Amino acid sequence: MEQTVRFVMGGQLQSVVITDPTLTVLDWLRGTARRPGTKEGCAEGDCGACTVVVGTLTGETLAYKAVNACIQFLPMLDGKELVTVEDLSDSETNLHPVQEAMVQEHASQCGFCTPGFVMSLYALYHQRETAPSRPVIDATLAGNLCRCTGYRPIIAAAETMFALPRPDHQPPIALLKTIQPQGDLTVTTPDGRRFDAPVTLDGLADLVETFPEAELLAGATDIGLWVTKQHRVLPHLISVGAVAELKQIEATDTAVTFGAGVTFDEALPHLSALHPDLTRLFERIGSTQIRNSGTLGGNIGNGSPIGDSMPALIALGATLTLRKGAAERQMPIEDYFLAYRKTARQPGEFIVSVTVPYLKPGVYFGTDKISKRQDQDISAVCAAYRLTVTDGLVTSARLGFGGMAGVPARARQAEAALRGQPFTLEAIRAAMEALGRDFTPLSDMRASADYRLTVARNLLLRFYLRETGVQVGEVGE
Ligand SMILES: Cc1cc2nc3c(=O)[nH]c(=O)nc-3n(C[C@H](O)[C@H](O)[C@H](O)COP(=O)(O)OP(=O)(O)OC[C@H]3O[C@@H](n4cnc5c(N)ncnc54)[C@H](O)[C@@H]3O)c2cc1C
Ligand code: FES
Ligand code: FES
Repeated sequence: MEQTVRFVMGGQLQSVVITDPTLTVLDWLRGTARRPGTKEGCAEGDCGACTVVVGTLTGETLAYKAVNACIQFLPMLDGKELVTVEDLSDSETNLHPVQEAMVQEHASQCGFCTPGFVMSLYALYHQRETAPSRPVIDATLAGNLCRCTGYRPIIAAAETMFALPRPDHQPPIALLKTIQPQGDLTVTTPDGRRFDAPVTLDGLADLVETFPEAELLAGATDIGLWVTKQHRVLPHLISVGAVAELKQIEATDTAVTFGAGVTFDEALPHLSALHPDLTRLFERIGSTQIRNSGTLGGNIGNGSPIGDSMPALIALGATLTLRKGAAERQMPIEDYFLAYRKTARQPGEFIVSVTVPYLKPGVYFGTDKISKRQDQDISAVCAAYRLTVTDGLVTSARLGFGGMAGVPARARQAEAALRGQPFTLEAIRAAMEALGRDFTPLSDMRASADYRLTVARNLLLRFYLRETGVQVGEVGE
């Protein structure tokens, strides 16, 4: 069995014998590779101090994305390039444009946050030729926290770095080609743990069926924290990361299908094409680093009541495809969630894809996420609404809510209150009332039950105001 994971770092091939499949990239960098430039702040994907850049080869193209090294496991690097802050320049006088701009703009702050900021900007630098707009810069840096100095000079560096002479960057494409996974990776450790990374869907199906107790691993933005925060020992991980079929996005005349391994970042342009509200929603999931790793399949698969994809996918009428062995089955996404963290997934089964029908012209759709912060925050309430109005009457209504119950769910009473009614304030008021029968939300550190219900009701009202153009003053208090 292959015990070695191969990736490129510093232009060199690294062959690392895996003795701990959940060793984080950050711990390996600092503890083994002696590259301490990458820092640990929170160890949970929140602060960005550990930001590194991972290069993924597709055909002849090497795409650089910023990720949080603290919640990535080392075997996930197999076949990739890892770029850390140490790789950017070979001397103090030969700085990379990102570093040069940081110096010129006096943007270099403490040693904790600066390497992470530099690496987020390095990924941005490789994704574009010219300076992007301010919102793009803000989004790039939203996953990098400084709690003491400020962002203004860093934003200035992000703008000016593109004007500096470009270094002659030779991506190690030829070297990477030699280490692209050709067959399944299986790592076992002396203490009996195991890490599998099959390369085909059939191989994945075989493994998951053979080892139903194994944990599926996608982007590790949830599972990483089980290790770093809960100190859980995960005896067997089956990674979906090398299965090309799960990375596919297929559009037909009626729907778009996302493989379960598609990241938020990869899905975003396709979701944005469906409705602008989906851009607003998905751009607010975590940070750039989280969206570069986290997948749709992981968001659905973790069964959380506050996964942000679910309300929108429920309202849109999305369908899941699940597979066990050779058998596939489909189900409406709302049927997947049975009770708190309990899903309809059977032992040996996994999510293959999620199919999202297009919105027909004239259909009303909207989605909102309510959280304490704009970026990098978990929802208190997340909601999505889709109404079809024919000849003045609501003929179909799908309302998806997160944060209101132990599972993401449809608001069926509120939907019933709308169906067959004219799309008027009166009908919306009845639906707002019905939400109290649909949900008995919990109070927790994010929000009280009262707050959640009030917000959910007001979101429905806001949706009505947005779609109809009725002014707030016209509806009374
Ligand atoms: C800092 C931070 C911010 C975050 N912000 C948000 C946010 O704003 N909104 C939000 O919704 N989430 C957020 N998350 C949570 C997380 O990013 C998402 O839930 C993400 O979609 C998980 O995907 P993943 O690929 O990383 O899954 P993983 O961590 O790899 O896996 C998560 C779960 O899904 C299961 N799973 C994975 N793939 C499959 C499959 N194909 N079939 C069946 N089960 C599968 C795994 O077994 C596991 O139980 C945040 C996380 C962090 C660390
Ligand atoms: S150490 Fe904070 S995001 Fe990784
Ligand atoms: S955290 Fe580095 S300067 Fe504030």
